[in-house]
Amino acid sequence: MNDARASPATQAQQTAVPSSANLDINTDEIMQWIIDLRDPPKREAALLELSKKRDSVPDLPIWLWHSFGTMSALLQEVVAIYPAIMPANLTAAQSNRVCNALALMQCVASHRDTRGPFLHAHIPLYLYPFLHTTKVSRSFEYLRLTSLGVIGALVKTDDKEQLLIVINFLLSTEIIPLCLRIMEQGTELSKTVATFILQKILLDDTGLLYICQTYERFSHVVLILGKMVMKLTREPSVRLLKHVVRCYSRLSDNPTLTIDAPRGQGAAPGQIVKMRASLALKQCLPDQLKDLTFKSLLKEDPSTMNWLRQLLTTLEIDGTILHDEELMPK
Ligand code: TRP
Repeated sequence: MNDARASPATQAQQTAVPSSANLDINTDEIMQWIIDLRDPPKREAALLELSKKRDSVPDLPIWLWHSFGTMSALLQEVVAIYPAIMPANLTAAQSNRVCNALALMQCVASHRDTRGPFLHAHIPLYLYPFLHTTKVSRSFEYLRLTSLGVIGALVKTDDKEQLLIVINFLLSTEIIPLCLRIMEQGTELSKTVATFILQKILLDDTGLLYICQTYERFSHVVLILGKMVMKLTREPSVRLLKHVVRCYSRLSDNPTLTIDAPRGQGAAPGQIVKMRASLALKQCLPDQLKDLTFKSLLKEDPSTMNWLRQLLTTLEIDGTILHDEELMPK
C-alpha cells in the first residue's frame, strides 16, 4: 500500500511511510525549492514545482512543516489574495498561484504527524474566507474546491483521537453552514467534497449530536440534502448520491436520538418538546429515494443501494425501490 504515488489523502490513512521511499527522488532539488519559498521572486516557481511533487514525496509534509519560514510563506500567499476576494476580482493566475500554496497545505493536513500541529496553529481558519465566497467563476470555484480539499484532508484520518480534535475544531468554527452552502450551490466536484466533510462529521457521535441539538440545525441539513436529491434527478452523479444517502442513513440510525421540536408546535413558552430524529426524517425524506428515480445509478453501486435499503428499513418506509428485482441483495 505504500505506493509513492498515492494521493496525500491515501497516505494519511497509511501508517508511517518509511523514509527509504524518499530515495528515488531528488531530495536536494526539493530542499532547494523549499528554501526558495522564502524568497519572494522565486516563490511562484517553487510553489508550482513542489505542488507537482506533493503526491510522490512521502516526507514532504514533514519538511514543509519543520523548515524555517515555510508555513508563514504559505500563509502569506493566502492572505495576499484577500483583497481580490472582496470586492471579487480574482484572476486565473492569482487563483492558480494560491491554489498551489493550498495544495501544499493539504499535503501538511494529510500527514498524521503534521495534521495535529497544523490544526493547533489554526491555519485552516485562514481558508474560511475562501469558503464564504459565492462567485461562480472558474477562479473562485477552483479556490473553493482546493480549500475544501484541505478540510477534507483533515477529516480523512483513522485515528479516532485525532479525528475528535479535528471535528471539535470544525464544529466550533462553524464549518457546517459553509459546507451546506457549497452543497447547495457548488459544482459537482465541490459538492462532493463538502458532502463528504459533512458525512465525516455526522459519522462521529459528537458531530451527530451537535447537528441534532436543535431543530433549526437538523432541518437546515435535511433541507439541503433534499435539494441535492432534486438536483441529482436532473444531474445524476453516483458518488454524490452515495454521500447523500450515507448522510441520511446516519441521521436515521440512532433510534433514541431526539431533537428539540420546532417552536410553536403546541409547546408552552419555555417548554421543550422532544421529537425523534428518525420520525422527523421520515416525514421529509424525498420520494425520489423511495421510488425508482435512481434505479440506474443504484444498479452501478450496490453499497449505496445497501445504505438506502437500511435507511428505508429503519424509517419503516416500504418504497418500490426495495422490491425491484434487479436491485435485490445478491
Ligand atoms: N450558528 C448556527 C448554529 O450553530 C450555525 C448553523 C447554521 C448550523 N446551520 C447549521 C449548525 C446546520 C449545524 C447545522 O446553529
